[in-house]
Amino acid sequence: MFKTPVTDNSNYMKNHIILAIAAIFLFGLQLQAQTIDIEPLSNENTLVRIASSQQARYLLLPIEEKAPEASVKIISGNSLERTINVRLALDAVDYYVPLDLQEWKDEDIKLLIHLFVDRTNGRDPKSEICWSKMKLSDNFSKENKEKYRPAYHHTPEYAWMNDPNGMFYLNGEWHLYYQWGPYGSMWNNMTWGHSVSSDLIHWEHRPEVLKPDALGAIFSGSCVVDHDNTAGFGKGAVIALYTSAGEVQSQSLAYSLDGGNTFTKYEGNPILTSDIVDFRDPNMFWNEEIGKWNLILACGQEMRIYTSDNLIDWKEESRFGKSYGSHDGVWECPDLFKLPVEGTDEEKWVLFCNINPGGPSGGSATQYFIGDFDGYKFIVDDVDRYLDGKALWQDYGKDHYAAVSFSNAPDGRHTMIAWMSNWEYANIVPTMQFRSANTIARDPFLYKENGKVYLGSRPAPEYDGANLDKVVKINGSCIVTLANENGEEFVITYDQKAMTLSCDRSNCGKTDFSPHFKTVATAPVQRKLTSMRIFVDNSSIEVFGNNGEVCLTSLVFPSAPLTTLTTTKMK
Ligand code: FRU
Repeated sequence: MFKTPVTDNSNYMKNHIILAIAAIFLFGLQLQAQTIDIEPLSNENTLVRIASSQQARYLLLPIEEKAPEASVKIISGNSLERTINVRLALDAVDYYVPLDLQEWKDEDIKLLIHLFVDRTNGRDPKSEICWSKMKLSDNFSKENKEKYRPAYHHTPEYAWMNDPNGMFYLNGEWHLYYQWGPYGSMWNNMTWGHSVSSDLIHWEHRPEVLKPDALGAIFSGSCVVDHDNTAGFGKGAVIALYTSAGEVQSQSLAYSLDGGNTFTKYEGNPILTSDIVDFRDPNMFWNEEIGKWNLILACGQEMRIYTSDNLIDWKEESRFGKSYGSHDGVWECPDLFKLPVEGTDEEKWVLFCNINPGGPSGGSATQYFIGDFDGYKFIVDDVDRYLDGKALWQDYGKDHYAAVSFSNAPDGRHTMIAWMSNWEYANIVPTMQFRSANTIARDPFLYKENGKVYLGSRPAPEYDGANLDKVVKINGSCIVTLANENGEEFVITYDQKAMTLSCDRSNCGKTDFSPHFKTVATAPVQRKLTSMRIFVDNSSIEVFGNNGEVCLTSLVFPSAPLTTLTTTKMK
């Protein structure tokens, strides 16, 4: 057995005065000497003991992104509390993540850690750097250290994030939960993180609300405000449905009686099971036309539609998707709601289907279908638009995925946010302290051109006048270039003859972390463009032709900010 000191004391040896002060100081700390007992066991296993008398707020875990994931069983007494997967550092520490010990404050805990390392070259499990670098601390710095962290887009305070989840609006606050991986900046250990905003620009971070349990990790899902207490948890309870992803995927329910800050998991979980492997991302909404709740769920390569009176018992009504749209990947994160067709007196239902891979520029993207829905069955209009793999896309950029809407939004809005990345390279983009941001919020709308209805996404009105955007007036084909002092540029080309809008980031800083990143993204344009609205942040560019009739979202990693914008007319 060997012990790791909490603090590195090597420097105080240099100076006697400092030594004396430090000795007094350390003597004072003796009573709560903070050491971690580390005991190597057989077969790659190590037992780490932390006595309650030694506990600090956090155990800081040293992470190395290229290390394989170690399995860490957190044990209190003789009970397994949780298992987390962590890339514990073997050769060098990239950064630390905190394991919050608060919930075991007065308990002795043990971590049974299993490393998965190739030992054929005689590498000694005891010598891995994680054992000497693991430390107890009352502090964990969440201070941003990265130049690519966006200034006004939502990001996690630290570590990994993917899909926005369970978004709803209540009492002036936009609640955004998200797929959070708290123990490193690569996907795993899915937990619902939580942020809140009153203006969709400034986000406050709140404690996570749903942690993995015996049924599995907490995958994507949705929330509703149960104004009429149909579920029986209380009037105005916030009800979350999410996917429990363990050996199998099933749907579980949790409810909040404090406006979404804390949730209690329902005793009867899971509430919906299936024998299908990919069975996830429940999205529910109140359908006043039938006086019932609807649920749409992604199942392999189709969507299943359910009804319920109480949010707990769901009846499958129909399935949608076979032979329509893109089927080059798994269907995920659905949404379904009705919108007016602007400039007409029609209303249409839009079914959103995120798909990975199979997007228009490779990897993940959001396709949509327009049609009618009677509460039981979705019937798509104009089927020709979706046959033989043809699809319509909400955003033709490479970095728009898992788009879903806020429930209970004011003024009948269906404001949406998407995860601003692509599964092709999300885990390796050049940030580490945090990884991934969300798009700005957008209000979807329908417009009609040449007899066909299209979906557009307009930046939410909260951004009007906030000085975040640049607006370029357009009269015919043109090239808009955003550039920096190092000659890097992001090139937006509007070709009015071809009726396309494209974004080229191939000479815009770091691209070589993935062969899939350079791709030029091109969108079809339905109506001649008269303007382009562009939102530039520290690592993203969102382009809205005609304020959202055509959208392209792109990540960029330039070496310096893109401060100049020039427009050149094309012949
Ligand atoms: C989409 C997705 C969802 C799933 C979640 C897991 O990006 O794969 O289908 O619920 O991510 O993190």
